[in-house]
Amino acid sequence: MAGPSEILIIGGGGHGRVVADAAELLGLDIEGFLDDHREAQLATQSPRFTWQGALPGSRAGAPDRPWILALGDLKARRAVLTVLSASAGPLPINIIHPRAIVSPSACLGLGIFAGPGAIIHACASVEHHAIINSGAIVEHDCAIGENAHIAPGAVLGGNVTIGPDTLVGLGARVLPNIRIGGGCIIGAGAVIVRNVPDGSTVKGVPGR
Ligand SMILES: CC(C)(COP(=O)(O)OP(=O)(O)OC[C@H]1O[C@@H](n2cnc3c(N)ncnc32)[C@H](O)[C@@H]1OP(=O)(O)O)[C@@H](O)C(=O)NCCC(=O)NCCS
Repeated sequence: MAGPSEILIIGGGGHGRVVADAAELLGLDIEGFLDDHREAQLATQSPRFTWQGALPGSRAGAPDRPWILALGDLKARRAVLTVLSASAGPLPINIIHPRAIVSPSACLGLGIFAGPGAIIHACASVEHHAIINSGAIVEHDCAIGENAHIAPGAVLGGNVTIGPDTLVGLGARVLPNIRIGGGCIIGAGAVIVRNVPDGSTVKGVPGR
């Protein structure tokens, strides 16, 4: 029987490992993880991380305790969110690594992960289930859409907008005031100098 303070991690792969590490540093009690693979990577990280069942939507129902989505793949994350949005139950929780920096004037939704070294600066807003990964910088007044992923080392200048379900790849740079649509992939190391429409893949310097 789960205790009242226990949390559930949805996704037991590489990103699940990172989220579990941060949760432990925060002193949270991890009840276990959901994954379609009982032998997912998280199972080998620590005997404390026990497999609790399949991902919602395949065989299992909605989580019965606070949860965080820790799959890395944005499409797989969206599929789980679609299932969970139709169910009532405990709310998702934010896991903000103790070495992340979040401005007191930033506005965070629910189910957000911020990794070690991430910075979410003044008056930025981050919608539900977004990932601000290790060392990523979200400058002042940025708006990050639901389930977007700002990958490790990516840097967004001030007042950048990132649409939902968009990946900003490893180490990419986005110039201030740029708007990137939803469902985009920004390649690792790209420098984005113009607005990007929904559903685009952009790579290179400057990004094309
Ligand atoms: C840009 C990206 C989406 C392209 O993926 P893809 O369509 O599968 O591309 P491919 O690997 O087939 O490569 C196609 C071409 O693009 C080049 N390319 C791939 N990624 C590139 C990048 N980031 N920047 C510049 N060129 C890139 C390849 O060298 C190849 O060039 P060629 O045709 O001259 O040989 C992908 O490489 C990428 O950067 N994804 C982001 C990954 C990431 O940061 N994830 C976060 C993990 S936490």
